[in-house]
Amino acid sequence: MRILAVETSCDETAAAIVVRHGDEPHVTIEASVVASQIELHQKYGGVYPEVASREHIRTIAPVLAETLGLGPARAGCLPELRLDGIDRLAVTHGPGLIGSLLVGVQTLATLSYARSLPLYSVNHLSGHIYAAFIQQSKESKVPRFPLMALIVSGGHTMLVYMQGHHHYQLLGQTRDDAAGEAFDKVAKLLGLSYPGGPVVSKLAQSGNRQAWRFPIGLEHDDSLDFSFSGLKTAVLRLVEERSPLTDQDKADSAAAFELAVVEALLLKSSRALDLWPVRDFVLGGGVSANGYLRERFALLLAHRTPAVQLHVAPYELCTDNAAVIGASAAFLPAQSGDPRLVEAFPRLSLV
Ligand code: KG4
Ligand code: ZN
Repeated sequence: MRILAVETSCDETAAAIVVRHGDEPHVTIEASVVASQIELHQKYGGVYPEVASREHIRTIAPVLAETLGLGPARAGCLPELRLDGIDRLAVTHGPGLIGSLLVGVQTLATLSYARSLPLYSVNHLSGHIYAAFIQQSKESKVPRFPLMALIVSGGHTMLVYMQGHHHYQLLGQTRDDAAGEAFDKVAKLLGLSYPGGPVVSKLAQSGNRQAWRFPIGLEHDDSLDFSFSGLKTAVLRLVEERSPLTDQDKADSAAAFELAVVEALLLKSSRALDLWPVRDFVLGGGVSANGYLRERFALLLAHRTPAVQLHVAPYELCTDNAAVIGASAAFLPAQSGDPRLVEAFPRLSLV
């Protein structure tokens, strides 16, 4: 089965072809193209929704053409899209920015209708989990059920228990900011560029994690929920008190902030593992590209539950892309409805 997938929920216009042979437990990537809009949004310090939708409209056709091997993606070029050999179409239909989602949904609904190919609508968050079902090498193993997944992205932070494909049980989630959002906001406070995650974590490498003690969100709360807004406020207070910050102050703040985020994620995940024994653990979403987070989760599992294997996607599959949307669609039950009825849902939930 060859799936052509599209992702336009935020600020990446992405398309991919993934393949699943028979009932294999994984998919492989045949092509994947991501046109990032990061540079366009940097001057606004975050994603500007109106600009994002317009850019998706400009780039969706060339990105699809490049994915299908019809030449490099150039905005404004509209070659004929040949879909020979494609069995299934998949598109992110939420959650995300409504104007951005609509571009992907309308484009694929049109292709689906015109070429009589089934269209699968995919939850973006499921894609972050299904990144773990993309085979990287002959030796790589897919996660085993039941599994626990921690999704840490720019818009979401949630712990999910899965007994089988697309069976989600929500264990905990953020009550305010998402982990990635906290990275982005703290980057802004420290005068760094958007997106904040990569720059804050780079700066943290030259900082002292113990220089300050920032609060660990909901540390003494029995739930499996997260909170990052108090942490962000604590960084703001420090920035105001010590202004102007030296370069070392900034590096120390980044390092201590990163520690507090990671400790909160470890604490709740560890508690969840006590309550919900699983065979494997999946770390997904943009923040799972964070080196320190990956390192600490590997250590946590190695110490407390060595039999539980940690699955984290390679860096380029942690942040938004369409291959993971195709991977998710490969394991969805059949969807055969009228593609013209597929809708975009900005607040679509996973569970
Ligand atoms: O999954 P994603 O690409 O988009 C959403 O679905 O939201 O995640 C983007 C988020 C941004 O907030 C970005 O700052 C964060 O992931 N991020 C990171 C790193 N790389 C990206 N956060 C921490 N460390 C990183 N290395
Ligand atoms: Zn995402």
